[in-house]
Amino acid sequence: MKKIYIKDKLQQYYHGITEHNFHHGPVFEKYRSVLKQIHDGHLKEDYFFKKKYETTEDLRPTAYNYDDSIIDILNQSNIHQKMIDLFGYELFLGHVQIRMCYPANPLEFSYMPWHRDTYLYEGQEISGPMPPMKKLIYYPRFDNKDNWNLAFALGSHLSMKFTKQEDLEQLESFKIYYAQSSINSFIILNTEALHHALPPENEKQLRIVYSFCPIGQIDWFENKSAYNEYVRRLE
Ligand SMILES: [Fe+2]
Repeated sequence: MKKIYIKDKLQQYYHGITEHNFHHGPVFEKYRSVLKQIHDGHLKEDYFFKKKYETTEDLRPTAYNYDDSIIDILNQSNIHQKMIDLFGYELFLGHVQIRMCYPANPLEFSYMPWHRDTYLYEGQEISGPMPPMKKLIYYPRFDNKDNWNLAFALGSHLSMKFTKQEDLEQLESFKIYYAQSSINSFIILNTEALHHALPPENEKQLRIVYSFCPIGQIDWFENKSAYNEYVRRLE
């Protein structure tokens, strides 16, 4: 077991992204069935989807408390310890997003081109949380189609340039990793790396995004309810 962590830790440091599997059991079964219901548009009372970008919509009013399994699956899969093993320090959940993505018109496609969630380019203000968040993302698969949901430039978090142009030009030299939708696997990624969300091949694709940060950065989130709930359930 320890060896796997050492391998993951190296990969997280040098590549900025690792793949992991959820712990199987009743909580995972519940999590999957809740997400399938959301995917199929059967939402609980008082919840709804709200358009964010042209081809995406987010579950409102909040995602973390839609069902207990949304946070329970993190505990079941030992994510708190896994984050410490991967990054070397304790991270806390700050926010959960449940987002539905629809296919884009390829001619008009512009949803989230290559970017870093946090960047500081010459002559510009800093953009995004500092230090950058770590995210756990699950792209649940409910059919037989292969969706490639995210392109990620391996190791690009270790090489930020002074201007946006220079920064994007180096994309040619990185190996690109593609995150596929899956039944039981998820990714943990460093959001300071260059990445790019991709539209689904099928009619729609759900993504569940958990944002993690160190305790000293939790004030980035105006609403602490997801954090409070995460901590309560750690005890
Ligand atoms: Fe991003």
